Amino acid sequence: MTTTENFNDHVMATYGRFPLTLVSGRGARVRDDAGREYLDFCMGIAVCSLGHCHPRLVTAIQQQAAKLMHVSNLYLNEPQGVMAQEMNQLDIRLPGKIFFSNSGAEANDGLIKSARRYGHHKPQANGRPRFEVITFQQSFHGRTLGSMAATGQAKIQQGFDPLLPGFRYLPFNDISALENAVSEETVAFLLEPIQGEGGVHVASKAFLEALVALCEKHDLLLMFDEVQAGFGRCGQAMAWRAIAPEIQPDGISWAKGMGGGVPIGAFWLSDRVIDDSGKTLASLMGPGSHGSTYGGNPLVCAAALEVLREIREKNLSANALHQEQRIRTEIASWSLPVITEVRGLGLLLGIGLRPDLIPTPEGSTPALTVVNALMTEGLIVPPAGPETFRLLPPLNVTDAEIDEALAIIHRILSTYA
Ligand SMILES: Cc1ncc(COP(=O)(O)O)c(C=O)c1O
Repeated sequence: MTTTENFNDHVMATYGRFPLTLVSGRGARVRDDAGREYLDFCMGIAVCSLGHCHPRLVTAIQQQAAKLMHVSNLYLNEPQGVMAQEMNQLDIRLPGKIFFSNSGAEANDGLIKSARRYGHHKPQANGRPRFEVITFQQSFHGRTLGSMAATGQAKIQQGFDPLLPGFRYLPFNDISALENAVSEETVAFLLEPIQGEGGVHVASKAFLEALVALCEKHDLLLMFDEVQAGFGRCGQAMAWRAIAPEIQPDGISWAKGMGGGVPIGAFWLSDRVIDDSGKTLASLMGPGSHGSTYGGNPLVCAAALEVLREIREKNLSANALHQEQRIRTEIASWSLPVITEVRGLGLLLGIGLRPDLIPTPEGSTPALTVVNALMTEGLIVPPAGPETFRLLPPLNVTDAEIDEALAIIHRILSTYA
């Protein structure tokens, strides 16, 4: 049986997959089962921050696997403790507590549950709990029942109603739409500071500040989904700090790049005091409130610890900004009509395309047409919506690798005139 046959016969067809079987990788490059090499600027959709099979990550996994892979969260394990301490002290740099999950959707479910706890602790005037989480159009928060309901895209939710109640979707970056948006039942805002899947849209500083003002006025939680944008990709360990560094959120979620390829996610809650008794926000999630069998096990934490250390020690967020500037300068110099704009921050970049210039087969999108053409030239990139493709190289990508990718992109995009 070929891999294609195995997938066709035995794997659920939940993805529109590219006909490409990847078998090995090193740094920014992957190989397929025919031995062809590609420059990988998808990186598992912003997951492999250090590239494929980085020696430091491989060694960490090997050593921890030989020592202790898994213990229950009924007990303590050293890597989880060190991971939380370093994240808190070196990356988040605000007092708070961390819960480890296995994915981004789960991390967001944790934030949604925390918001509901807060709504019980600080109810409506009539005594009923507050529960409504306001999210934004074109957002993507995951595929679980909770994170799917939080996602502001009808196509993700289609056929799964009734959805988990308690979400409302406002236009992203639209300050005027925030007026009168908060109801008696509202308890939190949840948003990506830089929307990824929805087409790569950066929240404006003024928009984030308007949310902060509403949170203060109505006693709401401000929660950032940094699953795709966090941990160096946008030029700062914390993506919102690349936009509005003074903001102090109440909750944050991550996954993807924090593990460099091992399945790990996390959410954080602030230690800020929320009532006269001195109770903190994070303490609302006390014993019995949440759990995960695998979350934060020694294997994934030992691995992710080295990923985050490498990002800090090599200052890879600075490389993300350096490469962003090189990419922007080069693309601007082309003046190609098919490119509408370059959006994003650091190495979470979206290249907007003019659909009328790209002949696209029925049932496909201009972005997919371009993505497929780039793949045949040896560059792998993911789409972001119908008219944008993303550049998500590893954070340690070199000038030469960026130049090689840009040459391929130029070659393909110059054919659409
Ligand atoms: C911003 C954001 N949040 C949440 C998720 C869901 O993460 P996961 O696929 O790990 O559940 C994603 C995945 O693309 C994401 O980009």
